[in-house]
Amino acid sequence: MRILVTGGAGFIGSHTCDQLVARGHEVTVLDAVTAPVHRGGRPMYVTPGADLYIGDVRNRDLLANLLRRTDAVYHFAAYQDYLPDFSRFTDVNVTSVAALYEIAVAERLDLQRVVVASSQAAAGEGLYRCPEHGEQLPTMRPDEVLRAGRWDIGCPVCDGSMTVCRTPERVANPQNAYGMSKHASEVLALNLGRRYGIPTTAMRYSIVQGPRQSVYNAYSGACRIFSLHYLLGSAPTLYEDGQSLRDYVNIHDVVDANLLVLEDDRAVGRVFNVGGGTAYTTEQLAEIVRKRFGSEQRARVTGEYRFGDTRHICSDIDALKQLGWRPQRTPEDSVAEYAAWLPTMPDLDDVLAEADAAMRSLGVVRSVRSHG
Ligand SMILES: NC(=O)c1ccc[n+]([C@@H]2O[C@H](COP(=O)([O-])OP(=O)(O)OC[C@H]3O[C@@H](n4cnc5c(N)ncnc54)[C@H](O)[C@@H]3O)[C@@H](O)[C@H]2O)c1
Repeated sequence: MRILVTGGAGFIGSHTCDQLVARGHEVTVLDAVTAPVHRGGRPMYVTPGADLYIGDVRNRDLLANLLRRTDAVYHFAAYQDYLPDFSRFTDVNVTSVAALYEIAVAERLDLQRVVVASSQAAAGEGLYRCPEHGEQLPTMRPDEVLRAGRWDIGCPVCDGSMTVCRTPERVANPQNAYGMSKHASEVLALNLGRRYGIPTTAMRYSIVQGPRQSVYNAYSGACRIFSLHYLLGSAPTLYEDGQSLRDYVNIHDVVDANLLVLEDDRAVGRVFNVGGGTAYTTEQLAEIVRKRFGSEQRARVTGEYRFGDTRHICSDIDALKQLGWRPQRTPEDSVAEYAAWLPTMPDLDDVLAEADAAMRSLGVVRSVRSHG
């Protein structure tokens, strides 16, 4: 197949391209190779054998030109961050999806598959269960509650404690601008695909881990931040109390899922959670990283939190399992591969301080203490 991969110079995109090329597909990458994800232009890991076009996915003419010679599309290009530049999320993440379908419909393109990268952030704060009042879908935590250091979410009816459930694909409860844009792009893609007969699948990835996860992006992940700290000899900070749950998923499991839905017709018209299947606290992840780097310094809880974060989220992955996929790798595997790759990247010394300063000055990272 001739496959267009937007964002194919990025983390998930490049790993997916590697496997598409290995399977004999003709792969074209459209990627802006933008900051903050990329520093110093084209990364070394762009898939050999893929045709790279450096350009913006919102460039309609360029996108149309590439779509005309394409059988299938993976749409990974996106703006991801925690920063409060809300319109940029919609502009990049939502408009690009709309343009893709607009071109396909206007030019009657015969696309055999469109796979759109959504995110667990579309589910946001997931499902909980109150022993007395049953299933609950809590809304975002008010800042005054966070400032008081109250991390756990009480039942919206009785304020009693609740258990965290695995969140299935039917739940959409995005808490930040990124999650909202991902949910919007997922709805656009699936419904326009259905309406105009363009076979479409949306993938809601949990936090993906492995080599090539952008080192320079403030947003991207606990594994990156913890690994950078331990590589540079410092101890990382855990947001909140370090007990937030996440179902980290390995990059190679994600690629397996991406390849599966390209060819399995049962995937058409559906959204799939792609998670690791097991929930870990951020403290547990930090411990995995610490042991890998052989450090004596445990991560510290300092009373800081990230405004707009969800408390817990763990995806229900049964739907994708029914198509024959299952996560095969552990966070230990991901951390080992990331730790081996990270020192190959240049200019690491100032990355943590720069990201931290940006998140603080824009009010993303806040502190219980500093607010009294
Ligand atoms: N990595 C994760 O944990 C994760 C989790 C959930 C969802 N996702 C989604 O998966 C997709 C891929 O994520 P990733 O982790 O590989 O991110 P990434 O930042 O490594 O890759 C994204 C790529 O898109 C490119 N890009 C950004 N804006 C562009 C534009 N306007 N035009 C063209 N290219 C542009 C970037 O240069 C980058 O190479 C994204 O849509 C993301 O929202 C990722």
